[in-house]
Amino acid sequence: MDFQLTEEQQMIQAAARDFAKTEIEPIAAAIDETGEFPLSTIRKMGELGLMGIEVPDEYGGAGLDSIGYALALIEISAACASHGTIMSVNNSLYANGLLKHGTEEQKQTFLKPVASGEAIGAYALTEPQSGSDASNMRLRAELSADGSHYVINGKKSWITSGPVAKYVVLFGKTDPEKGAKGITAFMIDTERDGFVRGKTEPKMGIRASATCEIEFENYKCPVEWRLGEEGQGFKIAMGVLDAGRVGIASQAVGISRAAYEKSLEWARDRKAFGRSIGEFQMIQAKIADMRTRLEAATLLTMRAAWAKTQMAKTGSRMSLEGSMAKLYASEAAMFITHQAVQIHGGMGYSREMPLERYFRDAKITEIYEGTSEIQRMVIGRLETGLR
Ligand code: CAA
Repeated sequence: MDFQLTEEQQMIQAAARDFAKTEIEPIAAAIDETGEFPLSTIRKMGELGLMGIEVPDEYGGAGLDSIGYALALIEISAACASHGTIMSVNNSLYANGLLKHGTEEQKQTFLKPVASGEAIGAYALTEPQSGSDASNMRLRAELSADGSHYVINGKKSWITSGPVAKYVVLFGKTDPEKGAKGITAFMIDTERDGFVRGKTEPKMGIRASATCEIEFENYKCPVEWRLGEEGQGFKIAMGVLDAGRVGIASQAVGISRAAYEKSLEWARDRKAFGRSIGEFQMIQAKIADMRTRLEAATLLTMRAAWAKTQMAKTGSRMSLEGSMAKLYASEAAMFITHQAVQIHGGMGYSREMPLERYFRDAKITEIYEGTSEIQRMVIGRLETGLR
């Protein structure tokens, strides 16, 4: 076993850390306050190769592995979880499925601009009545009589980057009688007729990432834009989420690390009763628990990222590793950010410091790309072989 990073992995980690410190950290509090989408920093991240890290060079990406991706996402999320969210949707939810299941033409049209950061991508699975119960979707895609296109009608909700996305990976029912086996994936150009953006969600955290409903009103999707075969959509969606969950685990690790580092500094500097608060055993116990969970979360995340790299080579599933990493890292992020607010006392509660932002941002990692309850369900089913 070798815990040493390769030269390439160290390079992307250093580049992401440097960019995060100089360009993202200084604006993180302000964009959290205003909710402004950080288009100019996202564009620069694209120029650095951060918006398509695992996408091969010929399709506009950086051509690195999943560990490099996880390391970079940790650095970006430590500075600003909103940037982490936008980066993770582009890299994991959008690019991953397209890379695996897209035709050469689809990759040229839909992958290149998003992996290079010129355009933003989104992933549309959830509907108002179907979040965790994803296969219960209603959005309908009907093949036209001449077989040239699908006519799409229906609504999707909680679409991260929806307000700014140029392209969307969409899942809909082509055969409603067949349940999960009647779901098909499509590539959508949001600039075509029949695509409508709905209400924007006012969120507790990751406030500078944009989230909205989207609606399809007789949208005509050319048959060549179908991703994979009819009926394969649910498996494509689930495979993408398995890999995507490594991204959310990385985001959680980044937020946790930022909260932990601030807490350590505060424990050393803040004086009470004539000494540094870090001298008190109660603070030391908090630091010990935070550090240990941070380390465990990082190791599970790196292990899942490694499994993702193997999956890319062998085609095997990595549901267990992805779900365990996301479950543990997101719950660790809630624990660590909660303790960080507590260690800082009143200053932890104040918007003058980033602790309360970390706390609000951490919460989403237990919800999106599958709640903690869904991760436990996936792990429990796989381990017992029962459902
Ligand atoms: N990979 C490949 N295939 C898979 C799979 C996987 N990970 N998981 C399931 N499948 C296959 C099954 O094998 C089955 O196929 P067969 O019948 O041929 O065996 C088929 O898919 C149906 O599977 P299930 O019967 O297990 O499906 P289910 O309805 O019981 O649901 C679930 C399973 C795990 C609960 C799933 O619905 C799920 O993951 N739900 C959570 C959805 C989610 O994470 N949503 C987040 C949306 S993205 C987001 O958060 C927004 C954003 O923009 C960030």
